Amino acid sequence: MIGETLQLGSWLDITRLSLHVLAASIWVGGQLVLAGLIPTVRDFGEGATQKVARVFGRLSWPAFWVLIATGVWNYLAVAHGSVAASWMVVFSIKMICVVVSGFGAYRHTKAATPSARGMYAGISALGSILALVLGVALAG
Ligand code: HEM
Repeated sequence: MIGETLQLGSWLDITRLSLHVLAASIWVGGQLVLAGLIPTVRDFGEGATQKVARVFGRLSWPAFWVLIATGVWNYLAVAHGSVAASWMVVFSIKMICVVVSGFGAYRHTKAATPSARGMYAGISALGSILALVLGVALAG
């Protein structure tokens, strides 16, 4: 911002956003990295992909719940004053993307056919990336 002196955030703001961004890097980055690793994991033999997917779920779902908890914390911290209507619109669209992201990932784990698994993985990845980009827009 022109004319304003850039200030450091408080330690509480740094903690809040660091936890949110760390969890986003695991949830979103993890999905993308896993997608890139899967063709190689498949070569490790029967059941290898399922094993890696199970372990990934043990890491990624806690990150998703941390995102929800720190997301509520973010909202309470930044939206208590007056927020622009455009901020609220972006926030609402982001919430839809978060639901799509979680729903896609859940259905991906329950899908019976490879094509359904792929479709839900794609839906989750898209929702996750959009939630991340809209989050950056909210933080300004
Ligand atoms: C898939 C789930 C989510 C992802 C990937 C995600 C990602 C992000 C990212 C990358 C930022 C930008 C942080 C920065 O630039 O400093 C952000 C900010 C934000 N997120 Fe999320 N987020 C998610 C879920 C949520 C949820 C569930 C909520 C609310 C209940 C939420 C509320 C917010 C708010 C209010 C900000 C702005 C924070 C600020 O300006 O200090 N997020 N998010």
